[in-house]
Amino acid sequence: MKAVITTKYGPPEVLEIREVEKPVPKDNEVLIKIYATTVTAGDVEMRSLELPFLYQLVLRLGFGFTKPRNKIPGTELAGEIEAVGKDVKRFKEGDQVFGAAGMTFGTNAEYISLPEQPGEMEGGVAIMPENMNFEEAATVPFGGRDSLHFLRLGNIQEGQKILINGAGGSIGTFAIQLAKLSGAEVTAVDSAPKLDMLRSLGADHVVDYTKEDFTESGEVYDVIFDVIGKASFSRSEKSIKQNGTYLLANPVAQMIPALWTRMTSSHNVIMQTASGTIAELNYLRELIEDGKLKTVIDRTFPLDQIVEAHRYVGKGGKLGNVVITIEHNNKT
Ligand SMILES: NC(=O)c1ccc[n+]([C@@H]2O[C@H](COP(=O)([O-])OP(=O)(O)OC[C@H]3O[C@@H](n4cnc5c(N)ncnc54)[C@H](OP(=O)(O)O)[C@@H]3O)[C@@H](O)[C@H]2O)c1
Repeated sequence: MKAVITTKYGPPEVLEIREVEKPVPKDNEVLIKIYATTVTAGDVEMRSLELPFLYQLVLRLGFGFTKPRNKIPGTELAGEIEAVGKDVKRFKEGDQVFGAAGMTFGTNAEYISLPEQPGEMEGGVAIMPENMNFEEAATVPFGGRDSLHFLRLGNIQEGQKILINGAGGSIGTFAIQLAKLSGAEVTAVDSAPKLDMLRSLGADHVVDYTKEDFTESGEVYDVIFDVIGKASFSRSEKSIKQNGTYLLANPVAQMIPALWTRMTSSHNVIMQTASGTIAELNYLRELIEDGKLKTVIDRTFPLDQIVEAHRYVGKGGKLGNVVITIEHNNKT
């Protein structure tokens, strides 16, 4: 099968398309023929490691010190079950599914074998929403599930005010919609070309971070969800209400001031890596099928253009998600 292979950290050109052995599902696994996958900001970070020293060190320790341990990148997918192991109960051949490979990666390929019941940090697979195509469904397991995970931790209540910083990307575009479904008043922060899109997803207020610093507005929020971790933590703190919550999706970016605040103030600071469950995928599918949640796709690239796709995501400015499509030409 064709797969993207990374043998070292570096620029987009380290990614190569190679022929590798097609996986064979174990007894507890499903073999998925992948039709769509994505390139996220996280994939670009993992490939380049162009990150602050501490963040880079954490990733090297977790995923390979001098080169990536798992050579096929990609975290999420949509596709069709081609074969099931003999112990698999929930799926059958031909089921259309979406899911995530978790921290083992490997979705930028024609096929992947994944366990029916994922272990810790392994992602998971579920039947995909009926009203989405493969391209759309592939964007949900990462951005949709991470935003759901963090907003649930933030325990958003009807009428509360939430600010989402970095609202125009993979996580933020879902977070706006999920926060609105909870009845919150949403302020979405991102750059000017994305503001109309943020409003169309339901944001009540938008802030262009290139022109305005939300920490200077005098507004205070019950919850700040900092997706991107680029706002000054000490300044953001004064924009959170007493006993309010600060959610950090990029845990390493603000780790030290966040830990200090957690110890010394009334603010609830939550930073962690979202692992994701099958129940969350099923919940998102229901919302999508009820017409309550949609995805935003900026561009799609065929698998052969993986280098261009990484360049595109790496330069910033994408609206929502970038999808990789995989053609199979009826070969198995
Ligand atoms: N904790 C976890 O489990 C977990 C899981 C996955 C990912 N992450 C991390 O979460 C982060 C965001 O993920 P994502 O996929 O949503 O990224 P994304 O798609 O790139 O979205 C981030 C958004 O933030 C905007 N932005 C950039 N600088 C900003 C600033 N100074 N102020 C406000 N907005 C700004 C970006 O706009 P421009 O494109 O215009 O720059 C972009 O729209 C990544 O660092 C990723 O590693 C954490």
